[in-house]
Amino acid sequence: MLVLFLLGLTAAASSRKRQATGEHTMGFIGCSMAENIAQGYVAVGGTHMWGPYGTGGMVVQSWTDTNSASWRLFDQQAARYGRPAEVWVQICIFQNPGATYDEVERLVANAREHAAPGARIWITGQPLYPDNPSSCFLAGPAGPQLTVDLAKRAAADASLNVTYPGEFVLMRNEVQDGCHANAAGQRSLGEQALAFWG
Ligand SMILES: *[C@@H]1O[C@H](CO)[C@@H](O)[C@H](O)[C@H]1NC(C)=O
Repeated sequence: MLVLFLLGLTAAASSRKRQATGEHTMGFIGCSMAENIAQGYVAVGGTHMWGPYGTGGMVVQSWTDTNSASWRLFDQQAARYGRPAEVWVQICIFQNPGATYDEVERLVANAREHAAPGARIWITGQPLYPDNPSSCFLAGPAGPQLTVDLAKRAAADASLNVTYPGEFVLMRNEVQDGCHANAAGQRSLGEQALAFWG
């Protein structure tokens, strides 16, 4: 009797865990900065979100056309894990051309199209550099903050139905080339992602 009861408790606990974390049921789009986060997320034991899948250089304009090579890459992940029930949209830019709000709206619409029906869409900018704000030469001195502002604007737009979980940050000693995270930075970003999404 007691054994059956304990077995029942164990089964209930593990099914709750699966429900809460759902391995690889969260996809993402973004650039190398999203890859840095996904690398760190896997390194610190995250399993809910996909691991890195080769999104280097894939700034906003790589994702505005729903049939782009980037979305085909996303679809390969979706074929492997199932269409994701959640998608994180990272707004990532090169200084030129930057990004417009109209382009961000298209990213959200495309994410819905490639995700499972009724999926939850999250949106963030690229990481900020609080103790060296103009550090990221690829995005330009004001670039990272611009991506965060676009993400917050999208989350405030009820018609988009997307959620802003907070900002990612990289400190000076966590950066290897002005933009990208070193190993310590990746782990820090991974912990930040875990705190947002489990
Ligand atoms: C908004 O998204 C949530 C998932 O995050 C979904 O459950 C809900 O139905 C959506 N609301 C509308 C009005 O589409």
